[in-house]
Amino acid sequence: MSPKELFQKLKEKRLISPTSEVELTQLWRLAFDAGRFHYGKPLVELGTLNAISALVLADAIKQATSHVPEILPPGIIRTVDSYTDHAKHPSLHSYQQNVELVRTFGHDDVIDVIESDSIEYLKSLEDKSAGLVFEDSWHAEEHVRPTLEIALTKLAPNGLVVCHDYCYAQYGVMYAVQDILLAAPNFGGSGLCERLWWGVMR
Ligand SMILES: C[S@@+](CC[C@H](N)C(=O)[O-])C[C@H]1O[C@@H](n2cnc3c(N)ncnc32)[C@H](O)[C@@H]1O
Repeated sequence: MSPKELFQKLKEKRLISPTSEVELTQLWRLAFDAGRFHYGKPLVELGTLNAISALVLADAIKQATSHVPEILPPGIIRTVDSYTDHAKHPSLHSYQQNVELVRTFGHDDVIDVIESDSIEYLKSLEDKSAGLVFEDSWHAEEHVRPTLEIALTKLAPNGLVVCHDYCYAQYGVMYAVQDILLAAPNFGGSGLCERLWWGVMR
């Protein structure tokens, strides 16, 4: 499936709005790069919500590796959410609904839907093991700061770190990115697409 076809399917099911498509296309490209250059290394999303971006990561990594005869390791994409308060809002998926959605899209072979606190999950990863970490959980500075500090130790060399909602001054993402990632000795460079910021580590 091309990213266009995937987004069309998501729009038909009323899972995304056209405005999200630009950012999701950029996320798709970043995951494609990570899938290619960090073959076999996990891509970790913190903040699953309704598993839309997890589907994008899965589609990208499958296309990035379609020329490789080996089957991708199961659970190469880990999408993590605490699901706190999801039951109070009918539009937010439960863990079980996300498992079902991922299966419906045929990506349960590569996506592991995980119920956990994002920082606790990140800590449990092996050091320098992840190809990409996508922080999209709680945007408060006191949460993003430790997340990025831990992510730095968990990313493989040249790994990608991606943060959503970078541009909002009322959130802490921008400040945490500037203080922690841009100041890291192994920081390699960054880019911005609407609300999506990404950086590459050396
Ligand atoms: C902005 S949404 C994620 C959007 C999703 N990545 C997407 O693109 O469709 C934030 C999610 O983070 C989750 N969350 C908030 N704090 C968390 C924490 N400490 N650990 C894990 N998940 C958390 C919320 O339950 C919510 O589902």
